[in-house]
Amino acid sequence: MRHKSLIAAATLLLVAACNGQNDGTIGGADYATEESNLTFMEDVPADQLPPDTLNLNLKEVMAHVFQFSGENIWKWQGYITDEKGERSLFPKTDEEWEQAESAGLTLAELTNILLLPGRRVDDPRWAKAVADVRAIALRAAKAAENKNEEAFFAAGGDLDGACESCHLAFAPWSAKPHTLQAAGKTAPPPPPANQSE
Ligand code: HEC
Repeated sequence: MRHKSLIAAATLLLVAACNGQNDGTIGGADYATEESNLTFMEDVPADQLPPDTLNLNLKEVMAHVFQFSGENIWKWQGYITDEKGERSLFPKTDEEWEQAESAGLTLAELTNILLLPGRRVDDPRWAKAVADVRAIALRAAKAAENKNEEAFFAAGGDLDGACESCHLAFAPWSAKPHTLQAAGKTAPPPPPANQSE
């Protein structure tokens, strides 16, 4: 029965999460696999979601929610040079590191909305890109918790790659020039507005 297997899955996730807490790692990265995403809510039809759940189309979700959430991580990374010289953007106080950690955890949680029926694409590449973004966002959060600049910066770079892998496969018109170039592709025109707006 579907319910039983859902309860079993939830129990497993709880166990995984508790184990993760015990040894200081974040549970989630370990089970953020392609398989877990493919089975997540697979039997829930889109018309059984609460009203308004899917009011934002994917283009808006991306532009307003995912880009915003990604920026909340990337803004704490790297160096800028201005009239005052070169400055690090990495968090400097406990509060700032905590904001960076929260940004990672927020993005990790957000990945679930890409799996809602009516929004997800039933293709293993979709599930994998979602799982990758989640795992990397959790890595960023962990690095921020540990105040590890190097690991936090590396997660930021990997995050861009994970976002872009989905764009390359499903929305090449939204992929960045460097992604298209690396894949030997050129940017196609965006789909007609009435399909994505
Ligand atoms: C599972 C797939 C997937 C993942 C993961 C994903 N995106 Fe997207 N993204 C899309 C698709 C599909 C579109 C094209 C939407 C459209 O044009 O209708 C898109 C479009 C965009 C756009 C362009 C929006 C516009 O106004 O045209 C931005 C910006 C964006 N994504 C940012 C991100 C960021 C940042 C991440 C990672 C933190 C990310 N995306 C992860 C699928 C994904």
